[in-house]
Amino acid sequence: MGEFLRGNPLFASRETLLGEIRRLGLEIPLEAEIHNSLKPAEIAHRRVGNRLVIHPMEGCDGTLDGKPDEITYHRWGLFARGGAKVLWGEACAVVPEGRANTRQLLFSADNADALKRLIAFAREEHRKACGDADDFLIGLQLTHSGRFAFPAPSVLVRDPALDAFTRFGKERRPMAADFPVLTDEHLDRLQDAYVAAAKMSRDAGCDFIDLKQCHRYLLSELLGARARPGKYGGSLENRTRFVREVLARIRAEAGKDLVLATRMNIFDAIPYRTNPETRVGEPVPVTLPYPHAFGTNPDYPVEPDLREPIEAIRLFRAAGLQFLNVSAGCPYTNPHFLRPADTPPPDGYEMPESGLVGVDRHFRMAAEIQRAFPDLPMVGTGYSYLREYAAEAGEANLRAGRITFVGLGRGAIAYPDWVRDLKDKGRMEKLKACITVSYCTTLMRSKGNELGQYPAGCVPRDPVYAKFLQEIRKAERGKK
Ligand SMILES: Cc1cc2nc3c(=O)[nH]c(=O)nc-3n(C[C@H](O)[C@H](O)[C@H](O)COP(=O)(O)O)c2cc1C
Repeated sequence: MGEFLRGNPLFASRETLLGEIRRLGLEIPLEAEIHNSLKPAEIAHRRVGNRLVIHPMEGCDGTLDGKPDEITYHRWGLFARGGAKVLWGEACAVVPEGRANTRQLLFSADNADALKRLIAFAREEHRKACGDADDFLIGLQLTHSGRFAFPAPSVLVRDPALDAFTRFGKERRPMAADFPVLTDEHLDRLQDAYVAAAKMSRDAGCDFIDLKQCHRYLLSELLGARARPGKYGGSLENRTRFVREVLARIRAEAGKDLVLATRMNIFDAIPYRTNPETRVGEPVPVTLPYPHAFGTNPDYPVEPDLREPIEAIRLFRAAGLQFLNVSAGCPYTNPHFLRPADTPPPDGYEMPESGLVGVDRHFRMAAEIQRAFPDLPMVGTGYSYLREYAAEAGEANLRAGRITFVGLGRGAIAYPDWVRDLKDKGRMEKLKACITVSYCTTLMRSKGNELGQYPAGCVPRDPVYAKFLQEIRKAERGKK
């Protein structure tokens, strides 16, 4: 594991990092005095103890029928005790055919008690470790994985660029040319499943629910479904209809206490592929204007255009939205827009740009949205690439009003108690931070065990997960 020790020289010191940020002409401010991050805030009618958030991250560690397993508790315990005051629970499928993998958590009558135990456990762990749990918010992310569902995809629009990434079963069979799209009637019925999952989340003790509209899963694809006919496609009003109606129904049927949130792609971009010679990612060729990506310039679809996302958020707010988490890209088709990294996962490409450019894009986009909605509590994404400087960037963005909450994804897997260190030591420690080697993703993409999936966690920082990677590598060597 010597490769972990080499590190990226960019992060050798604050000066080298700031020098590179300047050289690239980026807007990534750092503020070493951590103060605003630890101040309480309001989300709707709830008071939150600080502005630090654990992003939703699937652990791929449930039982085959979608209940939390022992290792789910290990992961949630680390998150709950770490001191972040918002634990944004991961994607949980609202229907069995909407699961992305064999170990994804699933809302069902049979699983309701198990979900309730997990939420109660997290709250109690937080209370024991941090003293007060009244200002600790827990939510679950309600999802249908759409074209990335396993074993069979559900699609809303046919798009040759995305269809090429859409596969069936373990054999990864391609999609047939005449594969049908979901009907409007199917989507009408699916609304019921989202409302039922929201009620189940409330009964499980969640403070908020998130209607997942990111990363090109079903409701994210819907936002870009300009080419879809019928009441859920075409105009922005139609493309936002499903979520607007579900928000209103949840408010009417699940009561006033549940905070209504969404994690939303504000920039889809087009898919990328691996250049066979350089291994670097490059955009797939598409016919322009490319209509299928949301928040994206159709004539130059690697560039954001946030006019529609801003209008969509306005519509969602009118329907009851109270809390927003902004994201971009897709983990399968263009991961560098979603999570800048130094090392790609096994099915990924080498990064076509500096990770810092990806961080800067996240920050600028989030700032533009926050500027449009200064009173909307909003969580920013893309901080983990900055390693131990993530908190300093968050602090600077908070102070500048560019964001109201700072979320860590991979950074929180590696370093779940970064908030405790910010309180006790005033900074994050280098040797605990994420180093963006993508092993968490490597684990979840490795399907070779009896459950069809390895649990995602931090290989360099947690021996529980290092053991899984060793097992995978051993099996690979055995095959050669
Ligand atoms: C292992 C893993 C699982 C993830 N699962 C989810 C998920 O369930 N829902 C979601 O919205 N994003 C998911 N993400 C994306 C993260 O929430 C986050 O947006 C991304 O890692 C970029 O943030 P970061 O730079 O702080 O890591 C996942 C990421 C990883 C690495």
